Amino acid sequence: MSAPESSAASPASLWPLITGYMPARLVHVAAELGIADRLATGAKTTDALAQEIDAAPAPLRRLLRALASIGLVEELEPGRFALTAAGSQLRSNVPGSMRNLALMFGGERAWRSWGELLHSVRTGESGTRRVYGVGTFEYLAANPGQAAIFNAAMAENTRRITELLVSTYDFSQFRNIVDVGGGDGTLMVSILAANADVRGTVFDLPSGVAQAPQKLSDAGIFERCEIIAGNFFRSVPEAADAYVLKYVIHDWDDEQSVAILSNCCKAMHGASKILLIERVMPERIEATPIHHRIAMADMNMLAMPGGQERTEQEYRNLFAAAGLLLERTIPLPGSEISLIEAKRG
Ligand SMILES: C[S@@+](CC[C@H](N)C(=O)[O-])C[C@H]1O[C@@H](n2cnc3c(N)ncnc32)[C@H](O)[C@@H]1O
Repeated sequence: MSAPESSAASPASLWPLITGYMPARLVHVAAELGIADRLATGAKTTDALAQEIDAAPAPLRRLLRALASIGLVEELEPGRFALTAAGSQLRSNVPGSMRNLALMFGGERAWRSWGELLHSVRTGESGTRRVYGVGTFEYLAANPGQAAIFNAAMAENTRRITELLVSTYDFSQFRNIVDVGGGDGTLMVSILAANADVRGTVFDLPSGVAQAPQKLSDAGIFERCEIIAGNFFRSVPEAADAYVLKYVIHDWDDEQSVAILSNCCKAMHGASKILLIERVMPERIEATPIHHRIAMADMNMLAMPGGQERTEQEYRNLFAAAGLLLERTIPLPGSEISLIEAKRG
């Protein structure tokens, strides 16, 4: 009897893994060409679309067929395509948009950095450093266009969990909160919107906070939130009740992570908390969707910024080295993400 199609060992399940870069590239090219935005107003023929986006009709038709085969568009009749609900997530500036994530994960830096994965596994050096000779955030500081895409991609990712986060954890216990490495302020907007008496500070590099004034002003919370450009390897704003670091520590190696956490520890008052929001690596990995997401994120940390996802014990050790004590880890229900709470040790 032949193995069932769903068996992990079957050729049917190995094939999409061997060729997995193909759909990833399709999604990226669709995002670059703005196909979803063009189809948002209604179905179009290949020729009409080709003219609008300045592409050759024949290869565009082939791209659209491939996109139809993965459910992002639908071929209504030969050569005429409409956007699907899944494809709509590649539109710009709509709730739930993932266009910047597609631009970032399929963009040149990700592509070239992941292309060096063999080197990274052999040496531990990140692909980004190998290709560009600098770390991710130095690269972004020198490339404002890419930084804007990165910041918007982070915001798109963050928006997917903000509701869950503010309903799972009680931020109203704090009077003021600093979001360290808070990017464009998307997380702070949600925390402040859900907690009317809390004040916030978004702290990040100049390239990280570049879009924050607009974001806070659009959300109407400017009067309750400060934006500070700075470097967390030097210092962070002092005496807040809580220091949130979402997807920050995973960007860095242990020594750098301890340096960031030590600076937070120095800035804290006796009752301040540190709240890391991270994926917690299980002690033993299994072939489940959540473990898969954590393991892929970990590989992405190796390829791009040169950091890593960590187990709870590894976070406990980092905290201890920075003079902090891990108090509890709160998994966000149904997600791979946890909130890790710590205080001064
Ligand atoms: C992976 S992003 C996470 C952004 C945001 N916390 C989120 O989850 O959407 C890491 C953030 O750390 C910031 N960052 C990197 N190096 C920094 C430094 N030396 N000082 C302050 N922020 C820094 C980056 O600019 C970026 O916004």
